[in-house]
Amino acid sequence: MGPIQDATSKAATPKAAGNQGLLTLAIDIGGTGIKSVVLNAKSEPVGEFRRVLTPRPATPKAVLAELHASVMEHRAFDRVSVGFPGVIRHGVVWTAANMHPKWVGYDLASALSALLGKPVRVANDADIQGLGASEGQGLELMITLGTGIGSAILNNGLLVPNLELGHHPFDKGQTYEERLGKAAYDQIGPERWNKRLQKAIATLEAFFNYDRLYLGGGQAKKINFKLPPNAKITPNREGLLGGIALWK
Ligand code: BGC
Repeated sequence: MGPIQDATSKAATPKAAGNQGLLTLAIDIGGTGIKSVVLNAKSEPVGEFRRVLTPRPATPKAVLAELHASVMEHRAFDRVSVGFPGVIRHGVVWTAANMHPKWVGYDLASALSALLGKPVRVANDADIQGLGASEGQGLELMITLGTGIGSAILNNGLLVPNLELGHHPFDKGQTYEERLGKAAYDQIGPERWNKRLQKAIATLEAFFNYDRLYLGGGQAKKINFKLPPNAKITPNREGLLGGIALWK
């Protein structure tokens, strides 16, 4: 059994897609917002992107209630992919650094499958973003810059899940997340944050020797320096569009 597993509800539900292939509801659960869209088999959006605010406190119960209300506004779908900001193993949340502690040990895949009556697969949010950005060749590192720092590594398109670089030591006895997360940005401002990020990129390149580095997440738009030729900023939407990869 791999770390990305599905939970299938026993509820019998009709196919939503007709001759378009299966439709996948892609969800990205974040510390500030919950985003969702329905995708066709080619990972193209076939409905509107929806975003609702993450309720506070962001307990599983509150988030699932908000999610349910938001999802009901979408067209019919056949299956569900979810990105969550923590370690996910076999559909279960193992860590949730920037979410409510009640998430730890929560079987998100089964709970959501029971709620929506569809098969559900859950993975780490940065892993999904990496799968969305991947060109399928060489060694690719994805770093997401947001409230937390997410990371994913793929070799020839194959993901090694739950890298969790954000919590590794980076500089001055602090982790990448402590040095580069949104709280640090708000504290030290754009100039120092960008300097730190440049140093982090140099460190990561020497460590991983990747072919390509992708930078995503809400804070990526704060980057104000010229990136090395093997690095690029990827659109945030890939955090949703990558969801289809959980079904391949
Ligand atoms: C979590 C990661 C997550 C990242 C971005 C970190 O705090 O540990 O699992 O990918 O935030 O949301």
